[in-house]
Amino acid sequence: MLIRPRRNRKSPVIRGMVRETVLDPSRLIFPLFVCDGQNRNIPIPSLPGLSRLSEDHVLREIGECLALGIRSFVLFPAVDDSLKDKEATYSYADENFYLRMIRAIKARYPEVCLMSDVAMDPYSSDGHDGLVIDGAIVNDATLPILCKMAVAQAQAGIDIVGPSDMMDGRVQAIRESLDEAGFTGVSIMSYTAKYASAFYGPFRDALESAPKSGDKKTYQMDPANKFEALREAALDEEEGADILMVKPALCYLDVIHLLKESSALPIAAYNVSGEYAMLKAAAANGWLNYEQAMPEMLLSIRRAGADIILTYFAKEYAQWYAKQY
Ligand code: PBG
Repeated sequence: MLIRPRRNRKSPVIRGMVRETVLDPSRLIFPLFVCDGQNRNIPIPSLPGLSRLSEDHVLREIGECLALGIRSFVLFPAVDDSLKDKEATYSYADENFYLRMIRAIKARYPEVCLMSDVAMDPYSSDGHDGLVIDGAIVNDATLPILCKMAVAQAQAGIDIVGPSDMMDGRVQAIRESLDEAGFTGVSIMSYTAKYASAFYGPFRDALESAPKSGDKKTYQMDPANKFEALREAALDEEEGADILMVKPALCYLDVIHLLKESSALPIAAYNVSGEYAMLKAAAANGWLNYEQAMPEMLLSIRRAGADIILTYFAKEYAQWYAKQY
């Protein structure tokens, strides 16, 4: 035998030398669920270890994350039902706590990168990402609402807006609105290939944002389709997206790989709530070793081609990473 691949695995030092993929915490974005008020830290049962946080707790959490090397955050608002309506008007209202929270975070920690969610569902009495008229999710009438939301977030100081709604033409509409309002420097991370997935369940629990009727299959992609993601990617690029995202991540590693190979834009992947819940549940039952399985999951997403990973594991990954080297 002349060739023995095991020679390249014989010690930790050699394994480190030949390692192809390293995941630095600087590539992670930590999603935070935020709520109005003060001194609120409300655990989310289907997302063990995560809570809905009021401003004071959010500021503390971000401070802790910064010390660990996590510098990017995406914020999702848990909005009281009484503030929801068909047109999601609270999403751009002056007194909106989400916009106030963006201002407070940027005032305290100007160095962080803050990303928003642009979609109607957290604010909509129908629980859909777009405007519902006679039971249908109407595309073009949704766009001006998304644009108002994005501009309001830009005014509050957001660094990146994240349209997660999957309406056609929304990246261009949002880009034009931001530019007209003078926010040429605000980036767009588009949810390019967002699938109609069962793995968003715990997220919808966290925000109480599940659709009141129907499902999201007329706007989110069919899990059976890969090449359709190329079409979405081409459109988002033409429409001015800065970063393309695939969501979820683990069941769609082939799509991440495909987009990475076919676009020069940075590719992000969203390791979604159900993927987090699945591992946490298995670990809590003693069926999987969390300390080993969690970094393995994140590494697989990076190896598939993701430059950026949105993940609820971000803080615990950074803690694990600090112990490795
Ligand atoms: C809303 C939105 C969803 C997620 C991010 N933004 C839910 C949905 O589309 O129903 C899911 C994130 C997760 O599951 O972690 N537009």
